[in-house]
Amino acid sequence: MDDKVKKAGFKGIVYWISIVASLGGLLFGLDQGFIANALPTIEKVYTLDIPGGESFSGIMLWGAAIGTVIAGFSGRYLGRKKSLVLAGSLFVLMSALSATLPAYPILYWARFLLGVGVGIASFVVPLYLAETAPAKIRGSMGTLFQLMITVGIFAISLTNVLLIRVVSDNVDRLPLMFIVIIIFAVLMLIGAISLPESPRWLMLRGRKKDAEKVLSRVLNSKEEIDIELNIIEEAINASPKTNRPLKGPFLKVLLVGIFMMVFQQLVGINAMIYYAPTILGYGGIVGFVGMMTVPFVNLLFTFPAIWLVEKWGRKKLLYIGSVLMLITMLAAGFAFLAIGNQTDASLIGSWPKIILLVSVIIYIFGFAFSWGPVAWLICSEIFPIQNREMGMTITTIVNWLFAAVVVSFALTIINSFGPAVLFFIFVVGCVLSIVFLFFWVPETQGVGLEKIEENLKAGKKLKNIGS
Ligand code: BGC
Repeated sequence: MDDKVKKAGFKGIVYWISIVASLGGLLFGLDQGFIANALPTIEKVYTLDIPGGESFSGIMLWGAAIGTVIAGFSGRYLGRKKSLVLAGSLFVLMSALSATLPAYPILYWARFLLGVGVGIASFVVPLYLAETAPAKIRGSMGTLFQLMITVGIFAISLTNVLLIRVVSDNVDRLPLMFIVIIIFAVLMLIGAISLPESPRWLMLRGRKKDAEKVLSRVLNSKEEIDIELNIIEEAINASPKTNRPLKGPFLKVLLVGIFMMVFQQLVGINAMIYYAPTILGYGGIVGFVGMMTVPFVNLLFTFPAIWLVEKWGRKKLLYIGSVLMLITMLAAGFAFLAIGNQTDASLIGSWPKIILLVSVIIYIFGFAFSWGPVAWLICSEIFPIQNREMGMTITTIVNWLFAAVVVSFALTIINSFGPAVLFFIFVVGCVLSIVFLFFWVPETQGVGLEKIEENLKAGKKLKNIGS
């Protein structure tokens, strides 16, 4: 059997682990992308006004922030696998409850709990993969997770558009929109139940025999298993018994990680992911183009990022992304100033419309191939091993919190001051992101994680810890 396995590369279980974990990413994307094309249907079925629709959109993200806190504890005390099962169960139960079109408060809190599931998955899936997948494919597994998020956003946008075309009655259509999510949620739950526990977590709990059993299912030879067990043991022994997280070098990189996530959100991406059809609608761009442009461009340009990030480095991509987003947000803002208060789409000139559409396309391109994947990547690279789990928990919470702020206030700002003001706020976010990149962000391409840690402890300037 061993010969066969060597020829094949990886054992079947490795593919299974990757598939189930990608389902976690897919569900993250399905839930994140759900609102854009489903919001008008939800608003009609539940007669929500703009603040109501906005609050329903944002509640999942507040739930996700809390879910990440829960994941920090459940991942540590219950284990990674049980946390994944918990996330999968929340996905299934809350989507199923929503599909019954319950009274609005129940729908609202179901969406909050769905968010808790998304938060747990957003933290535990990458952690589980990093600890369980063979070293050779860990990098690509990380990017696969990101890619699946954008696939999820695209897929749910498309199925929702199709449902709008095929099922004309809102009350008949809404449950079907939720059912698409239930199908993948059930697959993920069944998958999560069948997964082995993370060997690193088992070792942390002193269950070496069980860890060895899992590794023998994942790795090909006794030699590989022994090497992996040694690496895990050394890492655990090197960890200080008492955590002193908020001191010295850790605090410095923690701030870099936190601001990476703050700016990933303050450039405004989720205003687009959630409200592009609404925003483009104000500019008279409706129908299929209004509903599918953002998810399509977002998915398409995540592919070059995966390849370019190892070729051009992280910072170059981030700079290009920030500059492109800055210019396009400015252009979109001016297009809206030209449109003014005109609400009749047929009376809006074609130039503002073209500028708006082209700006949105280039903006999404700018995000998808830079800040989208790279912010998460940098946060997984800069923390010293003993603090990695805590660093990633905190930065993931910050990401959700700022996403929640953007989604919870974007429509109110549009309504009170007009879309141009919202775009100009994001322009400020883009400018600050460039200043932040220039002064504080290290280049981490091609450097070992241990080297980064060594530089950090030696007191090098933050922006130089990758060289
Ligand atoms: C961000 C999400 C965003 C998604 C869009 C992720 O990297 O963290 O907030 O919705 O990209 O693709």
